[in-house]
Amino acid sequence: MVSSTLNVLGALASGVLVNAVAPSCSKCTINDATVGCASLSEAFPSKTFFPGQEVYAFEKTNFWSNHEILSPKCVFRPETAQDVAAAVITLKEDCTQFAVRGGGHMGIKGANSIDNGVLMVMSNLTTLSLAEDKLSVEVGPSHDWGEVYTELDKHGLTVAGGRLAPVGVPGLLLAGGVNFHGNQHGWSADNVLEYEVVLASGEIATVSAVENPDLFWALKGGSSNFGIVTKFRLRTFKSGTDGKVLAGTYTVSAEHLDAFFVAIAHYAAYNTDPLSHIVPMTVAGPDPTTPAAAAVILYYDSAETPAPECFAEFFKIPALANSVSVKTLGEFAVETGALVVDGINDMFIAGTTVGKTYEDLLRGIQITNEVFFRELPKLHAVIPVEKLSLVSIDWQPIGTLWAAASRAANPVGNALGLDVEAKGTYLAWAEVVEWIGDEYYDPVHEWIVNTTRVIEEATRAAGLYDAFKYMGDAAGFQSIYAGYGAENEARLREVSRKYDPERVFQRLMPGGFKIGV
Ligand SMILES: Cc1cc2nc3c(=O)[nH]c(=O)nc-3n(C[C@H](O)[C@H](O)[C@H](O)COP(=O)(O)OP(=O)(O)OC[C@H]3O[C@@H](n4cnc5c(N)ncnc54)[C@H](O)[C@@H]3O)c2cc1C
Ligand SMILES: *[C@@H]1O[C@H](CO)[C@@H](O)[C@H](O)[C@H]1NC(C)=O
Ligand SMILES: *[C@@H]1O[C@H](CO)[C@@H](O)[C@H](O)[C@H]1NC(C)=O
Repeated sequence: MVSSTLNVLGALASGVLVNAVAPSCSKCTINDATVGCASLSEAFPSKTFFPGQEVYAFEKTNFWSNHEILSPKCVFRPETAQDVAAAVITLKEDCTQFAVRGGGHMGIKGANSIDNGVLMVMSNLTTLSLAEDKLSVEVGPSHDWGEVYTELDKHGLTVAGGRLAPVGVPGLLLAGGVNFHGNQHGWSADNVLEYEVVLASGEIATVSAVENPDLFWALKGGSSNFGIVTKFRLRTFKSGTDGKVLAGTYTVSAEHLDAFFVAIAHYAAYNTDPLSHIVPMTVAGPDPTTPAAAAVILYYDSAETPAPECFAEFFKIPALANSVSVKTLGEFAVETGALVVDGINDMFIAGTTVGKTYEDLLRGIQITNEVFFRELPKLHAVIPVEKLSLVSIDWQPIGTLWAAASRAANPVGNALGLDVEAKGTYLAWAEVVEWIGDEYYDPVHEWIVNTTRVIEEATRAAGLYDAFKYMGDAAGFQSIYAGYGAENEARLREVSRKYDPERVFQRLMPGGFKIGV
């Protein structure tokens, strides 16, 4: 069915018995993972780890947000695609549930780890290899974006990857990938030229625009529903002026909020400069009723323009702090990485307002911000303010430049279903709540669910709502694929059924955003 190398041989060589008449896992009765862990340990004694072992303790807790940490029965750490393939076959045979973790930055309980199941970690799938023609780089799912940028910096090249160095490669590329070069190259996923994927059958498939193109499309936004990606080949390009760009965070005081919103809407409605990228946000302080400050991450893909015209509306506002200067993208990704804290609890929640005019875009920003801060006192009522590390809301403009760049980078298309021509510019917003204290998980989560509903109601009433929710910024209770449009949702399910007829990645790998059996 799938055109590529069959690799059951690898599984056999690893000592795993392939049972041709194993019951389909859409029907098998899920076993206690003790069985699956024992099988893995027998086949891969040096790659399977149990409680009490150092590697187990390290991998079990190696996540971005505390509430992602669960208690797997064992950790499996493959070193090759063949290891992954053999493990998938074993887990099917034993009808054992598992989770897959890449960079561990999807801050959702159960998305990337599992209580009592097998936690398969990508830590040792470490390919990082520039092609001889330097037009692409192969990246294994162990890497974070900082590692990729550091390697490519040596060659004066970069890729359309994450904006924060510590974020993982695989989850971002499977979600879509908002990146600094979006207005030049589109979504990060549109710049993946080829995938190596372990399918439910244990087959190691090559997926590109010409090989398995339906799966190529589905992997661009369809997340973990189709297989385990063991390698991505990304398009490389030169960035900035000899690798240097103009970038930094420009912070303004709350008294300038009106002008700040004008500047965002102005950029969203009128920007024609593909070298630019912005991430504007408002940030809460001790007073929950109004933002304490606003800040915008500014990126300009050249070092030769000290004050790009497209940022003029921001620069008109006096700065409280300003780190905009010439640096490498890699340095900047480390700088932005320091804006957030790991090892606490972090939750993102996503939504979208759309608008064809400056006025509609401005209203979308104002309404989402206003409702967020109107609801914020209710959060302060359930968690002490000193336990809140960061509370903010940001808006990601995605407009005609981005859409055109996406199409040019990837004629096959992606699953995200954005329609800028019909709907105008998307302002993909994200609420961010970072707090200290696991005991506040339930009330914070409840507040987030409530607040998101109220924001959606308000934007709907204003005629500015769109169902798109960027997966990378989404919370576990949100439904993602419906936001891609009914047609894309149906097509994703169809592709997942074609490549995974036994429904392994729905039933045995329950975590993450699932398309459904
Ligand atoms: C601080 C921070 C900054 C961020 N910045 C950006 C940004 O600039 N742009 C952007 O687009 N997004 C951004 N994100 C969102 C980010 O893209 C997602 O959190 C993404 O899931 C991270 O990838 P990961 O590998 O770390 O995720 P993980 O949590 O490891 O994985 C995410 C999901 O993908 C599955 N998965 C992981 N590896 C594989 C694999 N090899 N094959 C199949 N499935 C797999 C997991 O099971 C899980 O369900 C940011 C997130 C954080 C926390
Ligand atoms: C596997 O990953 C761990 C954690 O990143 C690392 O310490 C170890 O050296 C890696 N081993 C191999 C063989 O790559
Ligand atoms: C969420 O909304 C419900 C119903 O309106 C309310 O009872 C509850 O207190 C709210 N929770 C928080 C944390 O605001």
